[in-house]
Amino acid sequence: MKAITITRPDDWHLHIRDGAMLQTVLPASAQVFGRAIIMPNLRPPVATTAQAERYRAAILSCLPQDSRFKPLMTAYLTDTTDPDDLQRGHESGVLTAVKLYPAHATTNSDHGVSDLKKVYPVLERMQAIGLPLLVHGEVTDPTIDIFDREKIFLERVLSGLLRDFPALKIVLEHATTQEAVDFVAAHAGDGRLAATITAHHLHINRNAIFTGGIRPHFYCLPIAKRETHRLALIKAATSGAAYYFLGTDSAPHPQAAKESGCGCAGIYTAPLAMPLYATIFAQAGKLDNLEKFASRNGPQFYGLAPNTDTITLRQTAQPTPPLACVGAEAVTPFFSPIPVDWEVVH
Ligand code: NCD
Ligand code: ZN
Repeated sequence: MKAITITRPDDWHLHIRDGAMLQTVLPASAQVFGRAIIMPNLRPPVATTAQAERYRAAILSCLPQDSRFKPLMTAYLTDTTDPDDLQRGHESGVLTAVKLYPAHATTNSDHGVSDLKKVYPVLERMQAIGLPLLVHGEVTDPTIDIFDREKIFLERVLSGLLRDFPALKIVLEHATTQEAVDFVAAHAGDGRLAATITAHHLHINRNAIFTGGIRPHFYCLPIAKRETHRLALIKAATSGAAYYFLGTDSAPHPQAAKESGCGCAGIYTAPLAMPLYATIFAQAGKLDNLEKFASRNGPQFYGLAPNTDTITLRQTAQPTPPLACVGAEAVTPFFSPIPVDWEVVH
């Protein structure tokens, strides 16, 4: 049985919601990760520095006294975002990044940006002050096939952003295609573009969503793609390249909202996040690169120091069985079709 000790990882893309759901899901992430980029797609969205400050206080108040977990806050970019407010948030240390959801691209994105040109003055300011832009990289044109929306986003939107804002730091969140990881490798430059890769996109391809019936707990956005894309993501994540790093996109929803006639997008991976990644890295023979992906590349991109403590992962004799649902609303944790035989040593 193998074991590996790495610098404590960070999660560079996490949904922890608010209220009772926040209390239910926060511990799983806070026990393992040092920091997490907290997604702002609450209802209403976390769109201003004041809202981000309040949300951060709510998160901190749910942590045990001795927790060192640090939530890194983001603001939700809207058509009416005020550049001065973002700058104040950045300078006061409240805001780590700004999130771009194209309007109606995914869960709780109806306040998203309707036309990028409207936020060009905001992007100018972010470029000037060094505040990163995190993008949900899918076009929302309903005539584009759902499996092509990320690829088309690279051509129609991301290329233009890189051209018009040559010094803006951008993260293409939850990359799901060969085209996306190739695009990032080609344009990463010296740290201006990077991508996060989720654990679930390393574990499932689109067949999983329809195996033996319709599987709402494998439905997320961007939707899982063909097997060739999953293999490309594994190659990218395990490569050790500085421009790919860990972002779970763990996105809990109440069971009733997932298992419904119109189930919402989002996969809840937080309780098994590091075991899911370690299983894939071990199978690829690339455990040596897990620390770069999980603990080094992210801080380097954001200009932060890596965490100073460590975690240990070890291989288990038996694969992990399905985890019990959590909370009063019975949030169902992700259960991989690939046996997960790694665990965090607590
Ligand atoms: C996320 C959510 O539920 O908030 N859902 C998802 O499928 N990933 C939103 C998002 O990150 O797109
Ligand atoms: Zn997300």
